[in-house]
Amino acid sequence: MRKKVIAGNWKMNMLPNEAIQFIEELAPLVKDTKNEVVLCVPYTDLFYALLTAQNTNIKIGAQNMHFEEKGAYTGEVSAQMLKSINAQYVIIGHSERRQYFNETDETVNKKIKAAFENGLKPIVCVGETLEQREAGETTDIITKQTKLALEGLTEEQVKNIIIAYEPIWAIGTGKTATSEDANNSIKSIREEICRNYGQNASDSVIIQYGGSVKSSNAKELFEMSDIDGGLVGGASLKAEEFSKIVNFNDFGNGEKNH
Ligand code: 13P
Repeated sequence: MRKKVIAGNWKMNMLPNEAIQFIEELAPLVKDTKNEVVLCVPYTDLFYALLTAQNTNIKIGAQNMHFEEKGAYTGEVSAQMLKSINAQYVIIGHSERRQYFNETDETVNKKIKAAFENGLKPIVCVGETLEQREAGETTDIITKQTKLALEGLTEEQVKNIIIAYEPIWAIGTGKTATSEDANNSIKSIREEICRNYGQNASDSVIIQYGGSVKSSNAKELFEMSDIDGGLVGGASLKAEEFSKIVNFNDFGNGEKNH
């Protein structure tokens, strides 16, 4: 049985004092969950977040990293640096980085390898644009992104990766993919992994959905057969709302938790 992983992506939000306050508020609200709880925070919050989350079940990650270990790359942060302060996760290839910061399938692949070499767990994002979706290219795009991202990884590494399927048109727009649509896209990613790494890897890999997840739609999405939790943007900025998403299993069938 795959675990559900609920990860918050704070993007460029939250000052250190806000991060500390958030985690102090969130910790008691999620302490009994059997789901994995992760917060991917800005670099400037990492140290404070890690200290505050000590002795809780909240894991902390970054939102990006460079693939080189060190050197003349002004402004960049390496996997080794993240690991040195005990960060555990790192988001790689978010669509905002692909769109605004020239992230490519090739750099995504290099970053994933560097993350594994340094003991970080990558959360790798794939997803189609609205035009690609309307042109019927969704499956092609997301399976190709997946294939290129994972190229050269071992089966063991693939089993340990987290993939976040985030349709770009659903990010920050309030529009979510229907749970059936999201599940089908995620199934196609799993099939791609099965073709390249075998059934075992495909059954083990955690694949999240991301894009306007909130407490009122989390349960429906996360209970689908192939959706193993979510990568949550806007709704991860309020501790109570995020805790309801983390605790989605506690709400009865059909009950909406606003
Ligand atoms: P929203 O939840 O704000 O749509 O953002 C999704 C996202 O990009 C998470 O990485």
